[in-house]
Amino acid sequence: MGWTANDIPDQTGRTAVVTGANSGIGYCAAKELARRGALVVLACRSEERGQAAADRLVAEVPEARALFQRLDLGDLGSVRAFAEEFDGDRLDLLVNNAGVMALPYTQTADGFETQFGVNHLGHFALTGLLMPKLLATPGARVVSVSSGMHAVANVDLGDLNSERRYRRWIAYGRSKSANLLFIHELARQLEASGSDVVAAAAHPGYAETNLQTAGARMEGRKRIERVIHVGNRIVGQSPEAGALPTLYAATAPDVAPDSFTGPQFLGWRGAPRRSWRASWTKDDRAGELLWTASEQLTGVGYKF
Ligand SMILES: NC(=O)c1ccc[n+]([C@@H]2O[C@H](COP(=O)([O-])OP(=O)(O)OC[C@H]3O[C@@H](n4cnc5c(N)ncnc54)[C@H](OP(=O)(O)O)[C@@H]3O)[C@@H](O)[C@H]2O)c1
Repeated sequence: MGWTANDIPDQTGRTAVVTGANSGIGYCAAKELARRGALVVLACRSEERGQAAADRLVAEVPEARALFQRLDLGDLGSVRAFAEEFDGDRLDLLVNNAGVMALPYTQTADGFETQFGVNHLGHFALTGLLMPKLLATPGARVVSVSSGMHAVANVDLGDLNSERRYRRWIAYGRSKSANLLFIHELARQLEASGSDVVAAAAHPGYAETNLQTAGARMEGRKRIERVIHVGNRIVGQSPEAGALPTLYAATAPDVAPDSFTGPQFLGWRGAPRRSWRASWTKDDRAGELLWTASEQLTGVGYKF
């Protein structure tokens, strides 16, 4: 029998922030962390959906300590406000989970292509702004949720915002490669600074969530949305199962820096285990260049 949510070590006294925790994998991860005793901050862009998720979580796990705090990763002003208002003394765990997939072309409030802006740059800024709290908390971790779909495309360092040409699946793959390259470079910088903060990545395989239908919904393509729903039911695993690799990377004692955890069967479904990743997501030079560009684009510099 593989690793399950029952194997999560006691989280009492620990504080976790989970981005995009109002639905799908983020909600399930937040719930299991709270069930094991963590104080969980649900960092969500919609006040209505975020508060409803916090209320639902406490209804499902009455002993849970969970609260909503607003965070729109597509707006750097909102990311800064979140970090300033985050008033915990400690931060044991930051789960960079929120994401969008294969949307029609749009831009964030700061003018970045949305998938790159939300999936990578928003989390890059958030992690940097929360880094002092993470560094001050013994045994803290940062976990970024990438995807097996990172293999579709490497980051294009010459066209980070897909200005030359926008192809929605390529842009998604690039943003998920950026998640892995970010963790690779963050782990290197943490090690160089002598910090014990662990940076690791995970992916859920294929889980039935709102992710797959968001694009069709944006474009009002109701038939496509229904077809995706049916397909999800047939081939997807539950969001609870999809959250397990994230929970493993976030809490298992033996998680190595810069590791990538995913489901065991073809990276698609099953219990968490070490996952394959494209070699370009471990390229030191590309990691440094993405880091420098991300600091310039967000205006957030890291202090270790
Ligand atoms: N499901 C899969 O099969 C699968 C496979 C590989 C990777 N992933 C990754 O898993 C992560 C979680 O996705 P999911 O499958 O659980 O999908 P989901 O149910 O759609 O959850 C995505 C979450 O991200 C939030 N979000 C989107 N834009 C945001 C923004 N600008 N600021 C803050 N939050 C924002 C969403 O909020 P709203 O509800 O307000 O939109 C939602 O809470 C993503 O990073 C995704 O790339 C999922």
